[in-house]
Amino acid sequence: MYNLTGRNIVLGVTGSIAAYKAADLASKLTQAECSVDVIMTPEAAKFIAPLTFSSVTGRPAYASMWDAASAVTEAHVALSRRADLLVIAPATATTLARFAAGSAEDLVSLTALATRAPILICPAMDPNMFEHPAVQANVETLKARGVYFVGPDEGRLASGQMGVGRLSEVETVMGAIRFVLGRGGDLAAKKIVVTAGGTREQIDPVRYVGNYSSGKMGFAVAAAARDRGADSVLITAPTELADPYAVDVIRVKSAMEMRDAVAEQCARADALVMTAAVADYQPAEAIGEKIKREGRDSLTISLVRTPDILKDLSADEGLIKVGFAAESNDLLENARKKLKSKGVDLIVANDITAEGSGFGADTNQVTLLDKSGAEEELPLIGKYEVASRILDRVVSLIETRQR
Ligand code: C5P
Repeated sequence: MYNLTGRNIVLGVTGSIAAYKAADLASKLTQAECSVDVIMTPEAAKFIAPLTFSSVTGRPAYASMWDAASAVTEAHVALSRRADLLVIAPATATTLARFAAGSAEDLVSLTALATRAPILICPAMDPNMFEHPAVQANVETLKARGVYFVGPDEGRLASGQMGVGRLSEVETVMGAIRFVLGRGGDLAAKKIVVTAGGTREQIDPVRYVGNYSSGKMGFAVAAAARDRGADSVLITAPTELADPYAVDVIRVKSAMEMRDAVAEQCARADALVMTAAVADYQPAEAIGEKIKREGRDSLTISLVRTPDILKDLSADEGLIKVGFAAESNDLLENARKKLKSKGVDLIVANDITAEGSGFGADTNQVTLLDKSGAEEELPLIGKYEVASRILDRVVSLIETRQR
């Protein structure tokens, strides 16, 4: 979780039925090694007890200005100074109005006035309320002041109504928190293009040639680039994974489509990380109708090579290129060959047969090989951490490149 470790998050919870979801958010942030201080409005404390929050965060949770004042001298001042980020989840219409007006009627709005940390607001309310011009005007006022927003999402609300008003999913809010904390990071103003997933080469309208790539490694690289301030673009073949927050996701199917998208995106990029498992072969001809089995005891499909996207990329000289070598045998020997033959700056050698490594796993064990001949073997770690180590290299390659 890298950019969350050791960060001080103040979580402001206000009076919406969605307040119970804030407990999950507080728990996830604590698991990601953030220090989480929860502050609540008195209305929020009617929906969920401060004890729930203090139990998951291991720190006091404050529901009133007067509690806070007795527990720590002027807790709101101390918390607002310490905060790396103030997250308001859920944020009610009243909270938005208080923030926009600069009133300090409760501990949450008071802290929002006192802090100079960035503020991320996650609204949750009845769809008619959210649409109301008064609420929309407050949202615009706050955005113009540099406040970040995530959601509300469309869906079913506690009232049974459908519409735009649901608190964003906790995973989305976590992505937004990482995005905001990453502003001004070491990849700020850099465009990083990442490919992910296994391409699908169409045989007929219902069948394809594919592979077992889950896309997890590439999604982790795109998220980790975003978390360091990059303009992160993810070109992905079909996967089960949801779009990461604040990553520009381009969905493609085949190797040809991926090649075109990569060429277009790399025209103005700083680095390309080719994590995708691109099919090496595609059917020689596209068959427009479903192949029938009647009258056939066997079927031969002729396959032809797909273009090598990485090797053939004629991007401008300054583009940093990172390739993957997913191998089942002679890992380092094959990786060394690919480093040269593909003309890349870095190869990530990945033994896909090792326990906890490769396709589908949440962890990976890789060796980084660069042009200087250096080979760095990393331990078995989470894919996000692997991504962070790859991006550490990308940062220094960008610094030393010659354009
Ligand atoms: O040659 P091999 O498929 O092992 O090379 C792997 C690397 O090359 C990966 O980074 C992969 O994304 C990329 N690749 C490509 N175009 C292909 C096949 C692989 O860019 N047709």
